Amino acid sequence: MAEFETVLLDVNAGVATLTINQPKALNALSSAVLADISAAVDVVAADKSARVLVIKGAGDKAFVAGANIKEMSELSPAEGEAFSKAGNDTFSKIANLDIPSIAAVNGFALGGGSELALAADIRIGSTTARLGQPEVGLGIIPGFGGTQRLSRIVGIAKAKELIYTARIVKADEALNMGLLNQVVEVEELEAAVEKMVNAIMKQAPNSVIASKQAIDQGIELPLADALALEAKLFGEQFAHPNQKIGMTAFIEKSAPTFE
Ligand code: CAA
Repeated sequence: MAEFETVLLDVNAGVATLTINQPKALNALSSAVLADISAAVDVVAADKSARVLVIKGAGDKAFVAGANIKEMSELSPAEGEAFSKAGNDTFSKIANLDIPSIAAVNGFALGGGSELALAADIRIGSTTARLGQPEVGLGIIPGFGGTQRLSRIVGIAKAKELIYTARIVKADEALNMGLLNQVVEVEELEAAVEKMVNAIMKQAPNSVIASKQAIDQGIELPLADALALEAKLFGEQFAHPNQKIGMTAFIEKSAPTFE
C-alpha cells in the first residue's frame, strides 16, 4: 500500500479508509495535505477491490479544522485562486469516485473540513461534531466547494445563513438540516460507519455505482434528461449477471450472493 506523509490509506476487505493524519494541527489542510489526499484518492480509484471509501480525521478533537490558515495568510490573489483550485480538484476527485464515500465526522469539521465532508456521499457524525463555514470571519469565502455543495445539500437559504454568519452548528442541528445523515455517540461512530458500509456492501456493486451516477449526473440535468439517464442506467443493469442473481434470490426466498 502506498505511503503518504500526512494521510493514512488502508484498503481492507473492500473498504478504503483515508485518515487525515495531522492531529496536532487539528488535521488542517495545507497544500501538502491536499496533495496527499489527491494521491491517495488516485490509489483508491485505481484499486478495483475498493467498494466504499471512508474518510476520517485522526485524533478525537477534529475531523478537519479547515484549510491551513497559517499557509493562507501570506497568499497573493493568484496563489489564493490556485489554492482554491487545488482543493476543489481534490475534493471533486472524491465526489467523482465511482464508489460511494462516507465521512465519519468526529469533532470540528470547519471550512475546508466541512467541505471535505460535503464531498462525501454520506456523513455520519458523533455527538461532538461541529460543522460550519467560518471563512467570512477570516476575510475570505469558502473555497473548497462550500458555496456550491453546502447549497446543494442543505438548500440555498440555509447555506447562505450559515456562510454569511459563520455560525458553527452542533451535531443535532446538522442532522435536522440534512447536513449529517446520522448522529451517534462518539464511541459508537466506528460501528455506525461499519454498519453503513456493510449495508452498502451487501448490495449489487454495479447497481450501487449506477445509482450514484444517476443521482450525481442527473441532478445537473433538466428533469426529462435526468429521467432518460435513469432509464438508460436502469436498462444497463439487465446486462449484468447481478440482476438475475438478485431477482432469482428474491423469487427463491434466498439471500443473493452478488458478483
Ligand atoms: N489552520 C492552521 N492551523 C490550525 C487550524 C487551521 N485551520 N485549525 C487549528 N489549527 C492549529 C492551531 O493553530 C493550533 O496549533 P498551535 O498549537 O501550533 O497553535 C492547533 O491546531 C490546535 O488548535 P487550537 O489551539 O486553536 O485548538 P482549540 O481547541 O482552542 O480550538 C478550533 C479549536 C475552534 C477548531 C480552532 O482551532 C479554530 O477555530 N480553527 C480554525 C477554524 C477555521 O476557521 N477554519 C476555516 C479555515 S478557512 C478555510 O477552510 C477556507 C476554505 O474553505 C478553503
